Amino acid sequence: MKKIIIAGNWKMNKTQKEALKFLQEFKSNLEEVNGTREIVLCAPFTALGIMSKSQYGGGIRLAAQNIHWEDKGAYTGEISGAMLTELRVNYVVVGHSERRQYFGETDETVNLRMIAAQNHGLTPIFCVGESKSQRDAGETETVIINQIKRGLVNLDQSNLVIAYEPIWAIGTGYTCEAIEANHIIGIIRSQLLNKEVSIQYGGSVKSSNINEIMAQPEIDGVLVGGASLDPVEFARIVNYQ
Ligand code: PGA
Repeated sequence: MKKIIIAGNWKMNKTQKEALKFLQEFKSNLEEVNGTREIVLCAPFTALGIMSKSQYGGGIRLAAQNIHWEDKGAYTGEISGAMLTELRVNYVVVGHSERRQYFGETDETVNLRMIAAQNHGLTPIFCVGESKSQRDAGETETVIINQIKRGLVNLDQSNLVIAYEPIWAIGTGYTCEAIEANHIIGIIRSQLLNKEVSIQYGGSVKSSNINEIMAQPEIDGVLVGGASLDPVEFARIVNYQ
């Protein structure tokens, strides 16, 4: 049975104090959700520790936004798997388009980071997606298939989540049509050995479009950026019908 995973990617937002306030407000707006719906918050490293200890953190899983492929060493600014597991983190976002675009992340480094995550018992949330120019040139399928093939070398597909995030839909307010996202996610699934991998959609998800997105048969959850910063709005998304 595929897991439904509703994840909020806070990116570089929220101090420890703001994260705790969010948890409290979010929890009070959450409805009794079906047990197969998992809630994940991808918080900054600095907030993970106190969030894992918060009395309002029950039922919420934590994700980091990066992991290095080495266990330790001279890698200024990076973070290791052991540093994350100590904070009771379960997931780690790898290959987000912002990392690829601004921090030189490649399919090869994405692959190494995901292998490290799995070696530490963490589940990678592997992001793939095409840019607007690639989409306009009709290259979406080739781009996605290449990212999947290169990213998944030597990966254990029984411990993996994939997020399809078209770059042109991230933070722009332009959501990919639910039917189009469903189609691309079907193509992603056709490339996998394990057809039960949960595949999320990400890109301008909000409470006003969540029902339509989650009604698609191939879509197993969402990775929400901007709309996950507001506890009431994120609770509405998690509470989708
Ligand atoms: P957005 O971001 O929801 O703000 O478009 C999605 C993401 O980058 O994961």
